[in-house]
Amino acid sequence: MPCRSSEELDGLVREAKKVTKHGKVANYIPALQKGNRDDLSVAIYHADGTCLSAGDIEQKITLQSISKVLSLALALMDCGEECVFNKVGYEPTGDPFNSIIKLETNHSRKPLNPMINAGALAVTHLIKGVNVEERLERLISFIRDLAGHNVITYSLEVAQSEFETAFLNRSLCYYMKQDGIIDEDVEDLLDLYTKQCAIEMDCLDLARIGLVFAMNGFDPVREKQIIPVEVARLCKTFMVTCGMYNASGEFAIRVGIPAKSGVSGGIMGAVRNRFGIGIFGPALDEKGNSIGGIEFLEMLSKRYELSIF
Ligand code: DON
Repeated sequence: MPCRSSEELDGLVREAKKVTKHGKVANYIPALQKGNRDDLSVAIYHADGTCLSAGDIEQKITLQSISKVLSLALALMDCGEECVFNKVGYEPTGDPFNSIIKLETNHSRKPLNPMINAGALAVTHLIKGVNVEERLERLISFIRDLAGHNVITYSLEVAQSEFETAFLNRSLCYYMKQDGIIDEDVEDLLDLYTKQCAIEMDCLDLARIGLVFAMNGFDPVREKQIIPVEVARLCKTFMVTCGMYNASGEFAIRVGIPAKSGVSGGIMGAVRNRFGIGIFGPALDEKGNSIGGIEFLEMLSKRYELSIF
């Protein structure tokens, strides 16, 4: 679908770009270092099927942590709420996304929530399939359905780069294996998780998926319920309470839109019953969120009174 470039969005993006010089492109996954600090692009996909954009929305980005919302939706659809929340909690955290500390100090031993790395690994563990290939294929098919087209795949380069350097995520897995939260081979789980994080798409796809969440799991373009309403509600609640990691409280105050970020600089947002938002801006703030993306969302939310609060 052609996306119309919008002067108004262009203006907001130009304004938001002023802060990108204060951010840094992620480098702990070596392949992500190639991102350009000054890029910022945005797509907004409306429920009537129209789309507005600013910047180079055709650039592909890897989902990284944005994939955690999608794997959560699939795991909830695969094994139900009780099974998922047997492995992972509901509570936000003030710790960074890759922190290990609560796995030891938290009384229940469960990762605090599905949006931190430990919780996301425990959720990915629940995706059904006979082997890694089938589980990945099921996740990718689900994401293709959400985005409404079939050309989505993952970047082998980014997946390998993360797999080779994921020492902390390996530690989280071993900790959880010790405590019986996961029971599969750690290398298999990391293989699946790093490929999940390396699934690639552009801002338009992100906005389109955001729209499905905005419409409570319903794709208004193809008139199809893709995610059960209750699963979409759960996912959006985590987007509000944990979607921006340990910056979620500040984001709720400054922006107030259910959203999820990833270290590649992507943000997916869902404005209830109205539109989905896809953003790509690789310069990150100190908490790992797109600095230009957050600035843009703050301006957009204030201008159109989009906060849910
Ligand atoms: O597990 C990791 O470290 C990455 N694949 C994803 C982390 C991420 O995107 C955190 N985001 N802000």
